[in-house]
Formats: sequence, structure tokens, C-alpha cells
Amino acid sequence: MNLFQTKSIASLQQEAASGQGLRRSLTKLNLVSLGVGAIIGAGIFVLTGQAAAQYAGPAIVISFIISGLGCLFAGLCYAEFAAMIPIAGSAYTYAYATMGEFLAWVIGWDLILEYLFCAPTVAVGWSGHFVAFIKEFGLVIPPALTNAPLNFVNGHFVLTGAIMNLPAMVIIVLLSALLYIGIKESATFNNLMVITKVSVLLAVIGFGAWYLLKNPSLAIKNWTPFIPANTGVEGQFGWSGIWRGAGVIFFAYIGFDAVSTSAQEAKNPQKDMPIGILGSLAVCTVLFITISLVLTGMSKYTELNNAAPVVNALQAAGAPVALRFVVEIAAIAGLSSVILVMLMGQPRIFFSMANDGLLPAVFAKVHPRFKTPYVTTVVTGVAATIIGGVLPLALLGELVSIGTLFAFVIVCIAIPILRYKQPNLVRSFRTPWVPLVPILGAGLCFWQMKALPHDTWMRLIVWMAIGFVIYFGYSRHHSKLNAPGK
Ligand code: ALA
Repeated sequence: MNLFQTKSIASLQQEAASGQGLRRSLTKLNLVSLGVGAIIGAGIFVLTGQAAAQYAGPAIVISFIISGLGCLFAGLCYAEFAAMIPIAGSAYTYAYATMGEFLAWVIGWDLILEYLFCAPTVAVGWSGHFVAFIKEFGLVIPPALTNAPLNFVNGHFVLTGAIMNLPAMVIIVLLSALLYIGIKESATFNNLMVITKVSVLLAVIGFGAWYLLKNPSLAIKNWTPFIPANTGVEGQFGWSGIWRGAGVIFFAYIGFDAVSTSAQEAKNPQKDMPIGILGSLAVCTVLFITISLVLTGMSKYTELNNAAPVVNALQAAGAPVALRFVVEIAAIAGLSSVILVMLMGQPRIFFSMANDGLLPAVFAKVHPRFKTPYVTTVVTGVAATIIGGVLPLALLGELVSIGTLFAFVIVCIAIPILRYKQPNLVRSFRTPWVPLVPILGAGLCFWQMKALPHDTWMRLIVWMAIGFVIYFGYSRHHSKLNAPGK
């Protein structure tokens, strides 16, 4: 039994062409919108301000450029694979085709950190925004029902006295139900959320630009020094702070890769996958860089360390109340679509792993009427609901980033491997400048992984160890590649 046996591209392309029972209904606009839906969320609405205040100052703009470049290089690699092997397993499948079953398992298991854990992380953020929003209308949910019963302090779990985070659980259940019913219905809901959040972000940029042009001396004051001097502590301002900032706000970019998990539901994946992945990334990069410039111009970076930095910066600049109000609505809409797309990605990866025999066959079931991978949708929904309802957030956010960065590194490395092994495959999209772009992509993503705390690395290693036990205890013996008759 060979751990490094690869799946042939031809068999994968056959599976992709058959669709494996999923319904092909997504257009290229849907795909770009799914990407934007997954990307714009807690990262831009919350983390940007906090990272500027704690690590990079106005140079958070440079952090966004660095992190965006890493994503661009990784995105170019994803685009080549997603167009050539349009299978719902995304990076898991690409690794299976290039590096063999064991590494495919490693990356499939790792992707759980990205999709399954990201959904509840963002759902808890959603809950915070929702609770604050309805409070404006005098509606109060008791804190015992809006907080997790467990917290993680100094390496130990402690009870908080709360019962559960009910709003976080409810939003996950509702969005899972939508995904169960259909990919087209989910895409339509996502489109609405995307239109809301993008228009509001454009309005914020418009207001910010107008305000800064009217008050150029204030802007110059707030942007000076653009790179605040390092405090003497690694990662607190200066260039090390810019890198730390890039590692933190990488979270904001997560999601464009989720487009690739919908490849078997795209009408024309060969042409549209690269458009969906790179188009959504391009739109969001421009928005992120502009928003971070406007935010740090309107408000001194030291004042951005709070739970609603965009709203507070607008407030400081005297923006109309209505604009602040719609930003809150946009944040709620924005976070909903992030949760939705993450809850869409995870079941499709489980689905692909089950089709290969690495997970139980029941996970590969497709709903006879809705044509969705309904078993894995329910499993993902239940797991995410429990995690979002009871676990502390602090444990999860950076795990999501390290897991995603790891997947990006593997996808970047896989491109030159396949170019070398099978140079003549038809590639409807080619990553430019191979191997330079993949090397830079892998390098930048690895560098951002390195900037994440030691604890996060330890959790990644523990998570992987659990994955190895499952692989050697179950998956390896059920793999269809190892026993083609199954
Ligand atoms: N990029 C997503 C967000 O910022 C995960 O919420």
C-alpha cells in the first residue's frame, strides 16, 4: 500500500464531468459573488482597526499589500488547479493528484480548520453585531444566552456561567438549512448580502475620501508617522509590526479559495473558476487597501482598538447617523455570507473525501431532489452549531488562519510538481511565471504562518496528530485508490 500513490488527472476529470450528482447552476457572476461573500467579513469590519492599533499603525495598508500578494500568488495557483480539476475537494483533490493520498488527507484534514472552524468563529462575531444592533431598538437578549459557557484562560478551560451563544447557533442552523435546500437558492441569498456589504463599503470609502480631502491636515497628521517606530518588542510597530499585522489581517482575505469547492456546481468551471477566484480576490484587495487608508486617515490608529472600528471612525469624523447605522447592517449581512460560504465549502470537501473512500460512504450521498451533499451539510451544520454555541472564540481565529495558510503553501508547491510530472496536460488557465509565482506564494504564506503565535502552531500539530490517527486507523484501509474494487 503506497501512501504517496496519486489519483490520475484523467479519472478526476471524468468525475468532474459526471458532476457526481450535484447540480450545475452557478454562473461566473455567482462565483465572483461567492468569493466576495466569503472574503468581506470580520477581518475588514473588526480586525483591521485592531491590527492597526496594536501592530502596524497606518502601515496596516502595507500589511494588506503583503498579505494580498501572498493571496494573489496562491490564488493564481488555485485558479490553474480549479480549472483543470474542477472537483469539490479543492486543495485536498489537488494534493491527491500531485503528492499522493497521505498528503491529500493531511490537507483535507487541515481544511476543516479553515471551513468548519471559520463558520462558528464568524458566527460569534455575527452574534455580537446582532445583539448590539437590536439593542438600539430596546431589545435585549440576556447575556447568559449570548455568551459561550466555556472560556480558555492561561491554558485552561473555565466556566463562564453563561448557557450558550444562542444567536450564533441560530444563524448557523438557518444558513445550513438554506444550503441543504439548494446551491442556487444559497447563491441568490449570498448575492443579496454581497450587494449590501459592497455598496455600504463603497459609501464608507466615498464619505472617507470626501472628509479627508476636506481636512487634508488632519489626514496628514493621522498618517504621520506612516510606519510608527518599533517599541522594542518584536511585532509592535516598525517592519516586524507590519509582518505581524499581515499575519493577523490575512484572516480578512480568507474565502476566495472557497470558490473552488463549488467547482462541480459551476456551469462552466474551466473558464469560470479562475474568474471567480481571481475576480473576487481583486475586488476585495482594492476595497481593503482603500478602506484601511481611509480608516487610518479619519481616526488616529491608536483609537481603532475596539469591537467596531469602522463605525467608531465614522463617528469620530462626524458621519451622518444613517451611515453608521447602515454600516452595522452591512456588517451583519457581510458576516452572514461569510458563514454561508464556509458552511458551503466544508461539506463539499467531506463529500470528495467520502467519494474517495477516506470518509464513510454515507458522506458521499446527494439529496435526490435538492442535488446537494445533504449528509455532510447536516454534519457540518451540527458541528459548527455546537462549536459556535459553547466554545471560546479566542481558541479558533488564529487556527483558521494557520490552517488556511498551510493549504495555500501546499497548493503553491503542487503547481510546479504537476508541471514537471505532466507538462502536456491541457490547462485552460496557466499560473504565470512558474516556478517563480508558486515559490513566492508558498514563501509569503509560510512567512505569515511563522508570524503566528507558538500556541497556534502547537494546536495545529495536535490537530494533525488526531488526523493521523484517523487516517491510519480508518481511511487508509477504506481508500478506493488502494482497493479499486470498492
Ligand atoms: N475573510 C473572512 C472574514 O474576514 C473570513 O470574516
